[in-house]
Amino acid sequence: MSRMGEHYSTRRPTSRRRPAEVSIEVRGLHLRLRTDAGVFSRGGLDRGSELLLEALEVGPCEDILDLGCGYGVLGIAAAKLSEGGHVVLTDVNERAAALARANLRTNAVANAEVRVGDLYEPVRGLAFDHIICNPPLRAGRAVVDPIVADAAAHLREGGRLWLVARTRQGADALRSRMARAFGDAEIVRRGSGYKVLRSTRGARPS
Ligand SMILES: C[S@@+](CC[C@H](N)C(=O)[O-])C[C@H]1O[C@@H](n2cnc3c(N)ncnc32)[C@H](O)[C@@H]1O
Repeated sequence: MSRMGEHYSTRRPTSRRRPAEVSIEVRGLHLRLRTDAGVFSRGGLDRGSELLLEALEVGPCEDILDLGCGYGVLGIAAAKLSEGGHVVLTDVNERAAALARANLRTNAVANAEVRVGDLYEPVRGLAFDHIICNPPLRAGRAVVDPIVADAAAHLREGGRLWLVARTRQGADALRSRMARAFGDAEIVRRGSGYKVLRSTRGARPS
């Protein structure tokens, strides 16, 4: 929340701008990222996002969706980790999307694009090898449930949904919903009170 009480998931933040730049080291990458008031984790890399990046396994030439990209840290790192791949970063928050676009340029990422819109609407008809998301849990189940329920329709066979959540904010319930949608959901990393969860399209139920 900003000091005005505005949530970062809002479409057009009205909070007074407070531009900042953060330096992030993750997976051997050094990223310089612009942030601002009215976007998630303005002060630096969120611990959950960091854990998700530590766990993420992407190969070359893969198509990746960063759903709810904020200022773009997950998608930018994924684009650098998948040589020859392509990343679509999306967010409903126009200020976040503008920052993500600027951050692609600053970090010399040419294999990615930013689209603005609600949930999967900006990628209608597209299928990916990976969907990565630090979900906006505070936006409630009306937003988070479709991220899980509609993921398989946007994944190729064998494609993976990667989510991260705090245990005390419902990571286990989220895992159950992933398991219902995909037949299985693994905990692939845990730490600092977070769990990184992964489901695979076409995986056999355990
Ligand atoms: C927890 S933040 C994660 C941001 C970024 N991926 C990171 O790791 O720093 C969740 C993001 O989801 C976005 N969001 C919320 N509701 C959304 C929706 N309906 N469609 C798309 N993005 C949404 C928020 O604006 C926010 O940027």
